[in-house]
Amino acid sequence: MKFSKYAQTALAAANAGADVLMKYYQKTLNVEYKGITDPVSQADKNSQKAVIKVIKDIFPQHGVLAEEDGVNEIKKDYCWIIDPLDGTVNFVHGVPLFCVSIGLKYKNEIIVGVIYSPVMKEIFIAEKGKGAYLNGKRIKVSDTSKLIRSLAVTGFPYELEGRRKRVFGNFENIVSCAQGIRRLGSAALDMAYVACGRFDFFWEETLKPWDIAAGIIIVKEAGGIVTDYNGTKNYFSSSTLLAANKKLHKQVLKILNETK
Ligand code: IPD
Ligand code: CA
Ligand code: CA
Ligand code: CA
Repeated sequence: MKFSKYAQTALAAANAGADVLMKYYQKTLNVEYKGITDPVSQADKNSQKAVIKVIKDIFPQHGVLAEEDGVNEIKKDYCWIIDPLDGTVNFVHGVPLFCVSIGLKYKNEIIVGVIYSPVMKEIFIAEKGKGAYLNGKRIKVSDTSKLIRSLAVTGFPYELEGRRKRVFGNFENIVSCAQGIRRLGSAALDMAYVACGRFDFFWEETLKPWDIAAGIIIVKEAGGIVTDYNGTKNYFSSSTLLAANKKLHKQVLKILNETK
């Protein structure tokens, strides 16, 4: 598949970020806390610098929205939405499930996404209208249609206060009707794994644009459906997300709306 300059830039930027991450992985880190359970290290910050440098060298006029700084240029037509290290808790514990996640928004739509998981040596990429790929091979969501045969994945917000009822209510309801649930600790990888059919669906709330931007286009281009819990595309403002194959999306959406 011949990708555009945008996708090639996303790939180069993800590579640059992943190189930084691997320099720090399983070494002693300086960890600060943004919230009581919400760590950030020099790996997150330096990966972000490397990613933004690659992008800005090629597209200096484009906007950036990235987790580890205050710059928010989401209103620009082209805006790169960057999670320089998704899965920081895993990373600081030496668990290999983490990635760099980069999405490019044009106007109101994500048009390119790259998720790079360097320890697993897996690169997920998608571009609008061109399909989704894992290490160069076309991927598709699963075709599981029965909830009891489905493997689901979710995550829990750093800040649970005020959300316990719905988060644990949904968890309990889905435990009772799915084959199993996993919790990887990286929302971007959760979505990438839905895209390639390892998981049948992913749901979570309080996600930020950088957690999901790349995953949205990767799941869509793999034939899946991505909405918020209301079934709309307002995932950035509502910060709830369900990514699923076409056969399960409606069934799961109904369950997620049973607990208010
Ligand atoms: C977090 C991870 C985690 C999810 C959290 C995210 P971070 O991102 O994606 O799986 O449960 O909601 O904030 O902080 O590791 O980039
Ligand atoms: Ca974080
Ligand atoms: Ca994240
Ligand atoms: Ca992050």
